[in-house]
Amino acid sequence: MKFFLDTANLKEIQEAVELGVLDGVTTNPSLMAKEGIRGLDNIMAHYQQICELVDGDVSAEVIGTSYEEIVREGEALAELHPNIVVKVPMIREGVKAIRHFADKGIKTNCTLIFSAGQALLAAKAGATYVSPFVGRLDDIGHDGLQLIQQIVDIFSNYGYPTQVLAASVRHVPHLIQCAELGADVVTCPLNVITGLLNHPLTDKGLAAFLADHKRVNG
Ligand code: E4P
Repeated sequence: MKFFLDTANLKEIQEAVELGVLDGVTTNPSLMAKEGIRGLDNIMAHYQQICELVDGDVSAEVIGTSYEEIVREGEALAELHPNIVVKVPMIREGVKAIRHFADKGIKTNCTLIFSAGQALLAAKAGATYVSPFVGRLDDIGHDGLQLIQQIVDIFSNYGYPTQVLAASVRHVPHLIQCAELGADVVTCPLNVITGLLNHPLTDKGLAAFLADHKRVNG
């Protein structure tokens, strides 16, 4: 399973790189705004910086919603760095653009997936990744993990090469359950990845080992 960091924060990305477990990064316009990145030149420069930090796919989202805008923006993003994956919303014009990008060999991540039908359509169009949003479905009383299961099953039935990128993953149990269900990738904040480190028995066991060593060796 690949671990992607869901952030535009360079410090957090650097920290995950140093941990040695990072396979890629996903961003979205809200995460870019959170870092105060504004204006096209700054936005492009920021994506460039992220790509230089991470040896893996970096999703950069288009803002346009017409086919022409999505294609223009996506092609400019793809030219920026070989790590860029063009993130395209699950809308009619987005699906058409995903087919265009697939035909040109440009990688895509179809975002804002909330149903199995949407995921199937994106896979048919040739998306590299689909991003079902687990947490946002849970937020409205649906079962986000059930959607992951459905999409994994459908893609496996037909051998689609599109990867299931579980997004909006909010806590450690989400991540573990996505792994159990066979999601290809999980994207989440840094605290979810570092949360995997924690177990009270590890802390207790280590303290006892060190205390015993000190008692005998001084
Ligand atoms: C996906 O790529 C999105 O950036 C993200 O996972 C959304 O997460 P949120 O619902 O916690 O904002």
